[in-house]
Amino acid sequence: MKVIKAFAPATIANFVVGFDSLGASFAVEDDLFGDIVTIESASQSAFKIIGKYASVLQAVEENVVTQATQLFHQKLISRNIKPSTLDIQLEKRLPISSGLGSSASSIVAALIALNAFYDNVFLSQDLLSMAGDLEGRLCGAIHFDNVAPSMFGGLQLLVPDKLSESLPWFDDWVIVIIYPGVAVTTKMARELLPTSLTLPKAVNYWQKFSVFIHALYKNDPTLALAMMKDSLIEPLRATLIPQFELLRSKAIGAGALSFGISGSGPTCFAIADSLLVAQNIYHAINDVKLSPESFCKIGKISKQGARIIE
Ligand code: HSE
Repeated sequence: MKVIKAFAPATIANFVVGFDSLGASFAVEDDLFGDIVTIESASQSAFKIIGKYASVLQAVEENVVTQATQLFHQKLISRNIKPSTLDIQLEKRLPISSGLGSSASSIVAALIALNAFYDNVFLSQDLLSMAGDLEGRLCGAIHFDNVAPSMFGGLQLLVPDKLSESLPWFDDWVIVIIYPGVAVTTKMARELLPTSLTLPKAVNYWQKFSVFIHALYKNDPTLALAMMKDSLIEPLRATLIPQFELLRSKAIGAGALSFGISGSGPTCFAIADSLLVAQNIYHAINDVKLSPESFCKIGKISKQGARIIE
């Protein structure tokens, strides 16, 4: 019997400078930090959720994996391919509404597993388009800055027409993520944002973003880091993150080169130029009183995106 197991990594969307336009795939050594979806053919369709965060997801029929399967099957039918009856399992390893691209990870793992099950009938760009649509249903706005890096790995730049371009980054950057253990939905975090910008603010934002991309290609980490300041979105969203200012000052005090919000939060991330500095940041953060559900992890931007693991 055909059994397919797919993993999709966590992500750091926006990467401070590129709201809705940049996202990085985050990996922890010796661990699969992301969700896993297993699919096998069955006589009756079935869906089950296991894993650390399974209990938080109760409405199975509304789960993103169920929705991903329905959408994938509709697309199959439109190509005159008959869908199979499937037994699907989601291993929910990422906390939900965490800013780590948790829903994107489930969606991407499901689509990658389904595509492998149906002998790679769709191109990765078709899968990315499906993933963006599914994310959009959840968050009220289509954005690809979680689904693209989760699918393709690395640092991804979103470009019009739903294409995604892999960017260079600095291999020696070590990333520390801090999940404060509370839930902030993307919808909630987007509602805080202005619906329009004055021209000077827009110019300031796109200048920093463009110079950041230029610095990546120039291999100039100092210039890239100098651009990683967000006076537009971060001050508004920081109000939803427990101890944001304290976390920032601890991280910077321990040697972080940059500190910002991952996606729509509440997870924050710090950049270090060595494992030693990352460990110092990790220990400094441990002094901050956060929810018992909180955690801190050291990792890297990963080249590897979603993949079949069995
Ligand atoms: N770009 C999106 C936002 C990411 O910041 O709202 C959500 O994870």
